[in-house]
Amino acid sequence: MYTQGLDQSGKGDPGARGEETAAQLDVFQARIDAEEKIEAKDWMPEAYRRTLIRQISQHAHSEIIGMQPEGNWLTRAPTLKRKAILLAKVQDEAGHGLYLYSAAETLGVSRDEMVGDLLSGKAKYSSIFNYPTLTWADIGAIGWLVDGAAIMNQIPLCRCSYGPYSRAMVRVCKEESFHQRQGYELMLTLCRGTAEQKAMAQDALNRFWWPALMMFGPNDASSSHSAQSMAWKIKRFSNDELRQKFIDVTVPQAEFLGLTVPDDKLTFNKESGHYEHSDIDWQEFFDVIAGNGPCNKQRMAKRRKAQDDGAWVREAARAHAEKKAARSAAA
Ligand SMILES: [Fe+2]
Ligand SMILES: [Fe+2]
Repeated sequence: MYTQGLDQSGKGDPGARGEETAAQLDVFQARIDAEEKIEAKDWMPEAYRRTLIRQISQHAHSEIIGMQPEGNWLTRAPTLKRKAILLAKVQDEAGHGLYLYSAAETLGVSRDEMVGDLLSGKAKYSSIFNYPTLTWADIGAIGWLVDGAAIMNQIPLCRCSYGPYSRAMVRVCKEESFHQRQGYELMLTLCRGTAEQKAMAQDALNRFWWPALMMFGPNDASSSHSAQSMAWKIKRFSNDELRQKFIDVTVPQAEFLGLTVPDDKLTFNKESGHYEHSDIDWQEFFDVIAGNGPCNKQRMAKRRKAQDDGAWVREAARAHAEKKAARSAAA
């Protein structure tokens, strides 16, 4: 789900870039400007390739790690219907991870390398998944807010200049839209339930509101590499623009639920047509990114265990592929 915020570096390998001529770069930029899609086998600047590998792999890692906070409630869903919905959603997230790893592989990076970077801590994933899911209402809040924020980020990625990423995003966005709706419907059910259920929904909103706003990444002023991603049409809108869009559509949804957004300074500015809000606690964001969020260690430990526990599957698949290759060579 998450894509923005961590992936603004746009840095390339200066050694590799040395090979690139001004003429090549001009032709490439002209293709981008003409809204042509760049495909895996096309020439591309090394920095473009690296930026995409970083962004797509971080996106893939976020989908996979993002299965954990919700997976935590699969065995405790209150009804069979809720369980089936949640199971489908968590499986969708696994699928998103797989599409995205495949899209990144087209850029010449291996799955093993990407997973290795995640497990070593070199690669990041969205900070939102380092927060715990303490109550059932958190499942509603995640669908509504986290998948809602993901949609804001990802709809423009359907028009990303890199073909394989943009095409993967089309299906991902359709599924994210189902995720958002199931979360909102869950919140609505709680808010129309008992006072205790409504209080649980309010508490979930209180805890997830600010981390959801942080999903869009740092303020534009401190996001120095966004300009290059915009010029390459990897990004279409700035972090602050997307965050504002999200706030503008989500606040009325909270009002409809009868919940209070946890921000004393939240006001609607009639002139601009936008909500104004308090400053975000960026220190919290950077602390969580640095590994000091409430669940970072737990998330990584679980991911490492899953990787170790799945080793026999990878070995068996490899042995099967070798046998099959040997058989077709002999035939
Ligand atoms: Fe997803
Ligand atoms: Fe999702």
